[in-house]
Amino acid sequence: MTLKKTIRDFTDWAGKRVLLRVDFNVPLNASGEITDASRIEESLPTIQYLQDLGARIILVSHLGRPKGTVVESMRLTPVAKYLATALGSAFVGKTETVVGDDVQTRVQTLQDGQVLLLENIRFEPGEEANEAGFAKQLAALADVYVNDAFGTAHRAHASTEGVAHYLSPALAGFLMDKEIRSLTPLLKSPERPFTAIIGGSKISSKFGVLSTLLTVADTLVIGGGMMFTFLAAQGFGIGKSMVELDFVSKAEALLKQANGLGKQIWLGEDLVVADRFAPDASTQTVSVCSIPEDMMALDIGPKSCASLIPIINASKTILWNGPMGVFEMPVFANGTKTIAEAVARWTKEHHGFSVLGGGDTLAALELFHIGHERFTHVSTGGGASLEFLEGITLPGIAVLDDATTLITR
Ligand code: 3PG
Repeated sequence: MTLKKTIRDFTDWAGKRVLLRVDFNVPLNASGEITDASRIEESLPTIQYLQDLGARIILVSHLGRPKGTVVESMRLTPVAKYLATALGSAFVGKTETVVGDDVQTRVQTLQDGQVLLLENIRFEPGEEANEAGFAKQLAALADVYVNDAFGTAHRAHASTEGVAHYLSPALAGFLMDKEIRSLTPLLKSPERPFTAIIGGSKISSKFGVLSTLLTVADTLVIGGGMMFTFLAAQGFGIGKSMVELDFVSKAEALLKQANGLGKQIWLGEDLVVADRFAPDASTQTVSVCSIPEDMMALDIGPKSCASLIPIINASKTILWNGPMGVFEMPVFANGTKTIAEAVARWTKEHHGFSVLGGGDTLAALELFHIGHERFTHVSTGGGASLEFLEGITLPGIAVLDDATTLITR
């Protein structure tokens, strides 16, 4: 990944109107309140830096998937409320529409250091279609483009990709830069041993990243629902556990490839199995090769946890994405909690380089009250971080100015 020019590489900010793409696609509860504001918090340094240098900031974000039409429950009102508290009187509010006369007027009257939030960009059909006309309309609002929305960098939309063709310079914000700098070493030059711990329910959504990580990591740890597809590929009975039958032969091929490369794919020693998917299910601990036919595995077991600790402690670099079990139910939370605590402890005691990612991983940290500061980097990207780690060039990053491009303005 080529390094990108950042907001530090441009100095003439005073009075400039900046179109700042952020990813404020934050989780909301049934009452429409933000349950995790970390994506907003993570972009505040970029906003405040630009404010301090006198830029006039137009924030652009999506929320949910309204599919090109106005959906009342997906208005950015809760985000605007949060920003009003975080930024004080410099935050001049949110527009009611994404484009139009009122938006023009409000942008024209912005003063140095002030911040305006546009309504949910995905209310406009031109956004996801990456329509050139819509991208030009957005570009016309500003003088400079900044992208801090790493979480949406895998989408080639008008506000993440198209607009950058019509605004110069096109720069990375601090969060975007931090994500690129933290994730790149995992693929390019990890300090070894490098252990990749990949969990979560669906092998189909992570197969690409597993294939890439097998070639760069020294040990690949597979947990969560996807491990049963691998156990099935090894010929073990998996009872009523989750499986993706279409992926059994692919899992088998990956196991063979690992053998050929002399690498270890860790699939644990024991599992917690249950008679049903419920917090009060009746459970027992069994070996990975003896899941009873009428039971389903929902977490890794204590022997598996114990065998992971030395692997973690011997590592120099760790990537963790995806839970080990159904952590939302206390009876199946132990595997995920053990990994979270072990990686956090190792990061501190061994000065390890730890990178975490994925919505479920972040939700687990929240549930277990384990702070992000206990890891080297916690990515704000779900799909974006997986695609990045698969080695795919993300369109929202590719379109930004390379660090070698001369800035003319
Ligand atoms: C995310 O939450 O992963 C990003 O905001 C991207 O959202 P999307 O998957 O709806 O494009």
